[in-house]
Amino acid sequence: SSSARKDDDGVLHVGGLAVPDLVANVNTPAYLLDEDDFRARARAFRDGFARREDVHWDVYYAGKAFLCTAVARWVAEEGLCLDVCSDGELTVALRAGTDPARIGYHGNNKTAMELRRAVDAGVGRIIVDSFHEIERVADVARQLGVTQAVMVRVTAGVEAHTHEFIATAHEDQKFGFSISSGDAFEAASRVLAETSLELRGLHSHIGSQIFDTSGWEVAARRVLALHARIATERGAVLPELDLGGGFGIAYTTQDDPAAPATLAEEITRIVTGECAALGVDVPHLSIEPGRAIVGPAMCTVYTVGTVKEVALDGGATRTYVSVDGGMSDNLRTALYDADYSCTLASRASAAAPVLARVVGKHCESGDIVVKDEFLPGDIAPGDLVAVPATGAYGRSMASNYNHALRPPVVAVKDGAARVVVRRETVDDLLATDLG
Ligand code: LLP
Repeated sequence: SSSARKDDDGVLHVGGLAVPDLVANVNTPAYLLDEDDFRARARAFRDGFARREDVHWDVYYAGKAFLCTAVARWVAEEGLCLDVCSDGELTVALRAGTDPARIGYHGNNKTAMELRRAVDAGVGRIIVDSFHEIERVADVARQLGVTQAVMVRVTAGVEAHTHEFIATAHEDQKFGFSISSGDAFEAASRVLAETSLELRGLHSHIGSQIFDTSGWEVAARRVLALHARIATERGAVLPELDLGGGFGIAYTTQDDPAAPATLAEEITRIVTGECAALGVDVPHLSIEPGRAIVGPAMCTVYTVGTVKEVALDGGATRTYVSVDGGMSDNLRTALYDADYSCTLASRASAAAPVLARVVGKHCESGDIVVKDEFLPGDIAPGDLVAVPATGAYGRSMASNYNHALRPPVVAVKDGAARVVVRRETVDDLLATDLG
């Protein structure tokens, strides 16, 4: 996080507190969450997208990246709305006191129970993703005697990943209604025909960890063309448009994300330009960043357990540093071949650096936390290692593989630490095992 720095003794501090002290009570592995950093990133999106008086933007924090009651509260306090995609996430949001009207509900296969609870709670918008679901939401709303606002998730035919995007190829995936096949227009028409539904607008999400706005540009052009067609052919001027999340962050020093204000300016220019060209009013706009808000605000701290040197072809060696967590607390390296960095967090070292691979304690060789990092050659059992930028899709995709106990989240603010999610216990696990 922006507040993480080392003191003269090489001890890493987060939010002004020494990492060894922070983990002394909770043990490792542990996630450290810098509350001020999280709030600053949330505000940077909210303020960055609120700079033009003539264009209205809402920012929905994507809870799938990481959600707990404290975080849901911070999100609301910083003036952001919240995107949830399951009954569990909705329950956390409501428990935190989130105004249901400021919640958007996603998912390609929400259950009938989830829809009933969402409509009953009064969520501001449900993003519908299939013809079956349109009927299902309409039925639930009718039964409950309410009109439910929905958005139609469309596939713009753009799939963006990191530095590249492919426009046209990526219709072959499970999300959304295809614009090019006509399904998206048909879905909008069916929602308009349902008396228990109100069509609030179109929704498009093109991918994640994106650095280049050209993907949003192509998507916005196609989605706005559909928006204009719905106005012309169905007489419905939709009040909203959501362009999804996906803003990239720096996992290693090579990545260079744009500031939210810069993204806001570019995307606003794209949308307003396109609306002018189509002769339609600019709708209320929204985005859904998850990773870019929580990712850099959290790091994971591990204790080194064993160190092993392995000979590589050609005579070089690689130092395998095993830590007390792994793919159960950060699946991203194993699943996506993701790049992370790490640092010795508990002391200084003058030892020459060695090429190290930080691995977990799980029973498979793909259990890697950091593929390649130079660590001091005297790295040894008992040392603490910190991995930055683990806030997004780390704890939220953690598992109990090998009956691992999912680590705690310690929030740090103003020189004080508070456990906002405690470590699981063996009793937590055994509670579901009925013998
Ligand atoms: N909105 C929608 C509809 C989404 O599906 C997602 C992410 C977001 C917003 C937030 O995207 P973000 O700003 O966080 O990139 N587990 C993967 C990422 C999956 C993203 C799924 N959808 C990972 O660890 O990279």
